[in-house]
Amino acid sequence: MRLFRKIKKEAGEVDFGNLPRHIAIIMDGNGRWAKKRGLPRTAGHAEGAETFRTIATYCKDIGIEYLTVYAFSTENWKRPPDEVSAIMNLLEKYLYEAIERMERDRVKMKFFGDIEPLPPKLKKLIERTSEISTHYKGCQVNICLNYGGRDEILRAAKRCAENYAKGDSAAFSDEAFSKHLWSADIPDPDIIIRPGGEMRLSNFLLWQSAYSELYFTETLWPDFSKVDIDNAISWFQHRERRYGGV
Ligand code: IPE
Ligand code: IPE
Ligand code: MG
Repeated sequence: MRLFRKIKKEAGEVDFGNLPRHIAIIMDGNGRWAKKRGLPRTAGHAEGAETFRTIATYCKDIGIEYLTVYAFSTENWKRPPDEVSAIMNLLEKYLYEAIERMERDRVKMKFFGDIEPLPPKLKKLIERTSEISTHYKGCQVNICLNYGGRDEILRAAKRCAENYAKGDSAAFSDEAFSKHLWSADIPDPDIIIRPGGEMRLSNFLLWQSAYSELYFTETLWPDFSKVDIDNAISWFQHRERRYGGV
């Protein structure tokens, strides 16, 4: 690890002693990646899953504390049923393999989003992965599945309203509200990375992104590499974060 850090440092880009604590990624561009190669969109999703494996491992190895990735949005159900079921099957395959590797990888996995509408087999794998994850302390990877920022905010607002009705006058504070989000207890993302060329959030972490640095790149997610994440981190390290101050 020491040698690795030294080599990276000499590349003069990332300051590994000053990393963002929480990186979030909108994993976009799988379909276009496949189209460019004359392949079905699902081939892009399969390649995107491999990229996720590589990037998550890299983030863990360099010492990122939290990685949150957008895998399937509340709006992605609008896609053709064949594509939706192919994505669900890939997620099953991914989690099945992840469970087998967990003892070695020791990555703590969490899931943001309502898993109820997901296929029963996938739901079971999610529950199993979450359960095993409670034993691990290292890098936490949050997978957003059937996740929508507005859905998350509405759920939290309902919980706050219930608590308010029960007499909790502080139920609507920033702090109390945050506790009802999927991301309760973890810091907001320092940087949100969106590959694929679109410059929008597409309903991702709407509450948590208030002061995140936003990094967009044309690179399609299946082509996204360790160099791309290094570039994003290095860019982040040159931002001046003011949080409304001077
Ligand atoms: C992101 O890639 C994966 C999901 C949304 C599930 P896309 O499938 O959106 O790829 P493009 O944007 O069509 O290229
Ligand atoms: C955002 O990508 C959702 C995920 C990456 C899971 P989309 O491809 O769904 O976003 P839009 O439709 O381009 O805004
Ligand atoms: Mg897309």
